[in-house]
Parts: sequence; C-alpha cells; structure tokens
Amino acid sequence: MAIGVFDSGVGGLSVHHTLVDRMPAADFIYLADQAHTPYGGRPGEEIVTLTRAGCERLFDAGASLVILACNTASAIALRRLQQTWLPGYRKALGRPVNVLGIIVPTIEAATGRPWQHEVERRAEKIEKLDVLGIFCTSATANSRVYEIEIDKRRDDVAVFCEPCPTLAGLIEKGAGAVELATVVEKHVEALRARLGRHPDRAILGCTHYEIVADMFRAALPQGTPLIHQPQATADAIALYLERHPEYDPGTGGTRRFLTTGTPGPQSGLVEAFWGAPLTFDAA
Ligand code: DGL
Repeated sequence: MAIGVFDSGVGGLSVHHTLVDRMPAADFIYLADQAHTPYGGRPGEEIVTLTRAGCERLFDAGASLVILACNTASAIALRRLQQTWLPGYRKALGRPVNVLGIIVPTIEAATGRPWQHEVERRAEKIEKLDVLGIFCTSATANSRVYEIEIDKRRDDVAVFCEPCPTLAGLIEKGAGAVELATVVEKHVEALRARLGRHPDRAILGCTHYEIVADMFRAALPQGTPLIHQPQATADAIALYLERHPEYDPGTGGTRRFLTTGTPGPQSGLVEAFWGAPLTFDAA
C-alpha cells in the first residue's frame, strides 16, 4: 500500500516534498491533474468531480490514504466526498481508505487551537488584532473556509484573503521569474492597499505558491512570518498514521509521479524547487 498525494498540478509537490522528508520509508504516489489545471477558477461541482476522479485513480494505484495537497480541492470537495462518496466507495473496495485535506492542519498551526476548539466570545474589546493575510485561489477565497474556521477558534485573529487568479496557472506553465515576481508583488500590494497596512502574518493558501515562496518573502515586509502549510500537514499526517494503523503507508520507500496531462519532464522552475530532475508518467 502507499500514500497518495493529489493536486491539480505541480503545487502539491511542496507538500509531497515535506511528507517524503518526514516519512522516508513510506511508498508515495503523486498525481497531478494537469489535464484540468488550474482548478481555482472552476465551478464547485467540477472541482468535486475532478477531485473524486483523482482519488479513485490513486486508490486504484494502491493508495490507502489520499492527501489532497490542494487548498482548492480541500476547501470545495473534501467534505462532500467524505460525506457522500467515500463511505460507499470504501465498502465497495473492501479495504480501509480515506481522504484528508491540508486546511485543517494549516488552521491548527495558524491558531494554535485543535480542530474541535471553539472560542467563548469575549465581552471586552480586543485591543490588538493579529492580521493574517491569506494568498489563495479564487475558489478558496470564495469558500471563506479560512475566515470561518479561524473565527471559530480565535477572536483576536482577523483573516483577509487575497485571491491571485492567474498565479497557479503561471507556475504550472513554468513562467519566468520576472513575470512571477510582478504578479506576486501586485497581490501583496493589493492586500496592503485594502488593509491600509501589511498583514502581521501570512499563509500561502495555494500549494503552488510555496514554489515561489521566496518571491512572497521578498514582497512582504522583511521577517513577516509565513505559516508553513507543508510542515503543518506533514506533522498532522504523521500523527494521524500513528493513530490509524489501518491505513498502510508501505515500507518500500518508492516514489511514483503520475499526470493526467502530458507525461514527461517538468519545468525548470519546478525542478529547481524539487532539487532534482522530475519526470511524470501517464496516469
Ligand atoms: N495548488 C492548488 C491549491 O492549493 C490548486 C491551484 C489551482 O489549480 O488553481 O489551491
């Protein structure tokens, strides 16, 4: 058995990289739905259908657990699939399988509060708000998942999402550094203009953006803390697997990379991030 990692494209490699470092002995299968990337501007129903197809492909390939290494799929599709599709699918398959997302671990890391925690509303005025900026796709921003879930846990954190509709597509195409940095700077400035100041902390709430994290660091005021979604996810998944031995991550240390798009080598931008040549096989 293996751990499956799913994204619309190359963005999930940022989470995959940290998962592999954390669990080197596990077998991993990465699936990029590059035939349909980017997801961020698609209607919700399409995102649900595409995410379900990706999960099925990974379970067919031998995954016992699928990590949606995609904020857009986690925000739009995860709950629907867990509630409506997964129970019947699991029964038909006759073995334990599950799908987990990356937003819960990220929110836990951002708030320091476990998932079940809900704040008791304080009567007194909060003098100091912690302003958290979230750069994400339009679908993730429209879902308001970060605002809603963080608000349930912390009443001293104010969340502002900045949708970056073209950025994942540009990263997917392997666009040049100047073009990418210009887009990143435009969104950092747009958020600053909207808030009248820069955020105190930020989340790169689309896994593609981790590939250009240095550009966000350069555009934000020096030292702005970035909550590291891949680390938060890897920590949470390692704990989850300890608690759930029924999901077998394998022990062979194998790595497979699949794409629904054109198989072959990935862009220089992605290989530089990955730190080695990277070739995807046909899914
Ligand atoms: N990398 C994905 C995310 O985390 C999807 C980006 C896209 O396909 O638009 O949201």
